[in-house]
Amino acid sequence: MQIKVVENYEEMSRAAADLFAEIISANNDCVLGLATGDTPIGLYNCMIDDYKAGKIDFAKVKSVNLDEYYPIAPDNDQSYRYFMNKYLFDSVNIDKKNTYVPDGQAKDTDAFCAGYEKLINSLGGIDIQVLGIGRNGHIGFNEPGAELHPYTHLTSLTDSTIEANSRFFASEADVPKHALTMGIRSIFKARKIVVLASGEGKAEAVKAMLSGNISTSCPASLLCLHSDVILICDKAAYSLV
Ligand code: F6R
Repeated sequence: MQIKVVENYEEMSRAAADLFAEIISANNDCVLGLATGDTPIGLYNCMIDDYKAGKIDFAKVKSVNLDEYYPIAPDNDQSYRYFMNKYLFDSVNIDKKNTYVPDGQAKDTDAFCAGYEKLINSLGGIDIQVLGIGRNGHIGFNEPGAELHPYTHLTSLTDSTIEANSRFFASEADVPKHALTMGIRSIFKARKIVVLASGEGKAEAVKAMLSGNISTSCPASLLCLHSDVILICDKAAYSLV
């Protein structure tokens, strides 16, 4: 794993956006793997700046998101579909028909998950995937546990993730208890993975990820097994390594 430690959130976001710009410029119909949460908002702002500056064009770009709460409607302002529209898609010339976020209203979740894997394959795989890290080391919604799932699946959120995400909801009780998420193997299909971490709150997770112990108790630690991963983190997130 390549590691780049920068001063702060802004530098992390710019460095990540430069990697995305490189991929999009080299191949204008590339496939982006996207995430939600606080971490990639700065990256998306930089991508919007690059688009407005004429550096990148999203006309043919396709995107696949990692995860979505379940159940949730796409127009719910806490859904990840709503998030993506708000923080990126509405501000660039991407065709929304080319943007895929797991369906938080899927009736048959098994069929949906199998179809999502086929979709990723039919797009030719993901060229560049951005990941944030949960404080407990989760990636996507692959939570620490005795086992991890390889492919897209319905999962239960852990208490710590429900608590961390409750900041966006009226109360903890309103946070959905389940999510649809790409699995570890689906994430590993990406040709390049960019992991972002910012702030002291992520320091324990970054330490565990880089400890050298590869364990399902820290799903992010498995990323050490992928051949093209870069961690871009600020000094605060790297402070315990
Ligand atoms: C979001 C996702 C999650 C977040 C993680 C960190 O699509 O898959 O794994 O990346 O929970 O969230 P933030 O960035 O809000 O700290």
